[in-house]
Amino acid sequence: MSSKEVYTLKNKNGVEISFMANGGRIISVKVPDARGEVADVVVGYDTPEEALAGDAYFGALCGRYANRIVEGKFTIDGVEYRLDKNNGNNHLHGGFEGFNVREWSVEPVSTGKYAQAYKLTLVSPEGDQKYPGELKVGVIYGLTEDNEFVIDYTAETDKPTVINLTSHPYFNLNGAGNGTVEEHELQINAAKYTPIDGDLGTVSGEIADVKGTPFDFTEGKNIGEALSAKADQLDFGGGGIDHNFVVDGFDGTVRLAATLKDPKSGRTMEVYTDQPGVQVYTGNHFDGTDTGKQGKPIVKWGGVALETQIFPDSPNHYHFPNAVLRPGETYKHLCVYKFS
Ligand code: GAL
Repeated sequence: MSSKEVYTLKNKNGVEISFMANGGRIISVKVPDARGEVADVVVGYDTPEEALAGDAYFGALCGRYANRIVEGKFTIDGVEYRLDKNNGNNHLHGGFEGFNVREWSVEPVSTGKYAQAYKLTLVSPEGDQKYPGELKVGVIYGLTEDNEFVIDYTAETDKPTVINLTSHPYFNLNGAGNGTVEEHELQINAAKYTPIDGDLGTVSGEIADVKGTPFDFTEGKNIGEALSAKADQLDFGGGGIDHNFVVDGFDGTVRLAATLKDPKSGRTMEVYTDQPGVQVYTGNHFDGTDTGKQGKPIVKWGGVALETQIFPDSPNHYHFPNAVLRPGETYKHLCVYKFS
């Protein structure tokens, strides 16, 4: 199996999702619009070679701890662990060699639930990126006949460790490369979010109301309306949204967290999850210098990532959801991107 090998999930409605073993990177998501016109709605590159050479988080599985751990430090049972700081003062997305650049084993799976599905597995050895314990991870990528792309994660450890997995596709429902997502409408079932500071997304542990801020998507609004507001929080995010939203009513069951709509194409995507948070990132660091699909530049705000997860830096905040996994327990996480 070469790392450039591409696997594709298809259903009878013409939805087609392709990914690579390397990083489990989702490299294309082709969805028809109301008139049956198909567009690839994830930001990325035309070929697996370009994907391997390009932005290593595009569409990738992130771990062991997606998002940031402040100063890369955490303590479990009185033992302090120090991870690499690969993002300013913080540890980001599992470190210098996170799961996003690892070779995953890929096997087809057949269950009645999916039109097609694959299971990706990875064994992360004890001490991998300085995390404790050997972690065994399984991720099912499944596509249903109802146009649901399901990402079903499980993991087990042989020593207490921390875990927070996510998937990192950037969506542009009008088609990757077709402008920005400013005119996309986003609704998020989150009355609260976790503010960041100027130090590359460090969180203090504060959980704040979205009411009266650009982060109030409770009623649904254009992303551009939020992006054009004047707010320190947007500056801290690198000129846009790069924040964790607290999913309303979290109780570990699967619920609708967010709905993204593109009025131009009429495409809609709902995000369902059993996780307590969704990191919304509007691609603030894209600057048009990288060339994406069909030779088009990857521009600022050219896509939006909706990453279901535990909150950033949870291991250091007792009032944040638990991110510690112990032997005998199973980490479970479900994320569904549903297209219509
Ligand atoms: C996001 C993160 C951003 C950026 C991006 C990867 O999840 O919130 O700050 O690091 O991943 O480029």
